[in-house]
Amino acid sequence: MNSFQGSTNRREFIKTTGKSAAISALATVAIPPVHAGGSDLIQIALIGCGGRGGGAAANALSVKRGPVKLVAMADVFPERLANDLNKLQQQFASQVDVPRDRQFLGFDAYRKAMDCLKPGDIAIFATPPAFRWVHFTYAIQKGLNVFMEKPLTADGPTSKRMFALAQDASAKNLKVGVGLMSRHSRALQELADRVHNGEIGEIVLQRGYRMHGPGGYFLSLPKPAGITDLLYQVKRFHSFIWASGGCYNDFYIHLIDHLGWMKNEWPVKAQALGGRHYKVSPEGVAYVDQNFDVYSVEYTYSDGSKFFFDGRCMNGCEEIYTSCLHGTKGMGVASKSGDCGLPSSLYKSQTATPGALIWESKVRPDEKDPYQNEWNDLMDAIRDDKPYNEVKRGVEASLVSSMGRMAANTGREITFDEMLRCEHEMAPDIEKFTMDSPAPLLADANGRYPAPQPGIVTIREY
Ligand SMILES: NC(=O)c1ccc[n+]([C@@H]2O[C@H](COP(=O)([O-])OP(=O)(O)OC[C@H]3O[C@@H](n4cnc5c(N)ncnc54)[C@H](O)[C@@H]3O)[C@@H](O)[C@H]2O)c1
Repeated sequence: MNSFQGSTNRREFIKTTGKSAAISALATVAIPPVHAGGSDLIQIALIGCGGRGGGAAANALSVKRGPVKLVAMADVFPERLANDLNKLQQQFASQVDVPRDRQFLGFDAYRKAMDCLKPGDIAIFATPPAFRWVHFTYAIQKGLNVFMEKPLTADGPTSKRMFALAQDASAKNLKVGVGLMSRHSRALQELADRVHNGEIGEIVLQRGYRMHGPGGYFLSLPKPAGITDLLYQVKRFHSFIWASGGCYNDFYIHLIDHLGWMKNEWPVKAQALGGRHYKVSPEGVAYVDQNFDVYSVEYTYSDGSKFFFDGRCMNGCEEIYTSCLHGTKGMGVASKSGDCGLPSSLYKSQTATPGALIWESKVRPDEKDPYQNEWNDLMDAIRDDKPYNEVKRGVEASLVSSMGRMAANTGREITFDEMLRCEHEMAPDIEKFTMDSPAPLLADANGRYPAPQPGIVTIREY
């Protein structure tokens, strides 16, 4: 995978961001390489006990190469922690040992959970993405291996910070997995080999679609009483760009990531359309989230070839959720349905007709789940002490997502370089958040948050 030119120039990051400088200094602290070899017990702390956090913990406790135990959990909402704990206890009774004094709540809970681990153990980050760099900084200080969910960043300054942290983690021989599970789909791995070997010629066009009804926290009504602005925005993170990159980054990154992988580079620029159509609830209340209902993005690669991405969250319309690539000698289907749904296939024509089929993936039953594969792969790297760090490409995929989103939100063409250098840090001082902190977004008198206005607000996204 080629990298964005200059994007990982560490010296420049240190020069351009004070925080990066402070973080990068960690790399010089002499801590011996740590890994849990052989059959040592590896302990896990779960930070962010929601849907995916619970899923990632279950994958961790199901790895082929144990023994593994969940020993600490952290969240900002007690009911979320209790819910995941209960489910995990039922499924993995002998591997879950999280007594009350290892259950932590609040914005500093991540520290307390990681303090329960020893170097070489694993911290899982499954909070909204805005907190990634904060949690990763502490994990590196503590000599912990990490599994962190996608996306990794939503803006330029934190992307620079994460690039620097990725280098610090590698310098300490820490293993870091990133939840872009397409990369661990055995079908997509074989597809990438075949495409890179030229089986459908040069890639000249790619298409990605994620179009379905509103899901997750895509839509939000004005904040109700009884919850702070900050906690409301954290809870409904798909609605707020600072917390997650909005639905664009959160929902679309998987297809963007694996199509970039197939092309073997990242797009260099994007121009895009987007709009808000139905932003009133059936009861007539205006939704206050920052998402567009539709996004149509034209990404361009360095050779001029295009990748078109369409995203829509709207009921009653055609539902399409797939990714395709077209080469000079045929086409491929990467994800048949969903983020990386089986099978992947190659055709000698430009349409996916059975008569033109060249290859269709066949995956062993025990390797069909990419969420489990990514954990088996991470654990193998830890147990065998093999280099393993997926953060750089995870940040790059996050930046390409942000580039498409920013192009739609501003109405301007945005280059990868401009996205990286954009100085709008969307959640400044997030590392100091307490339960009483003001939220990064302030509502107006009607409870509305600033929404993107293409053509009007063009230097920042809102
Ligand atoms: N790889 C995938 O296919 C996949 C699928 C779903 C979600 N995800 C990712 O996982 C992450 C979480 O998504 P989810 O669907 O599980 O959301 P969720 O709302 O179910 O869970 C997030 C949890 O994090 C907690 N939290 C928020 N801020 C916190 C903080 N500062 N410290 C501790 N806990 C905090 C929330 O209270 C909540 O319990 C997102 O980044 C999302 O994109 C990845």
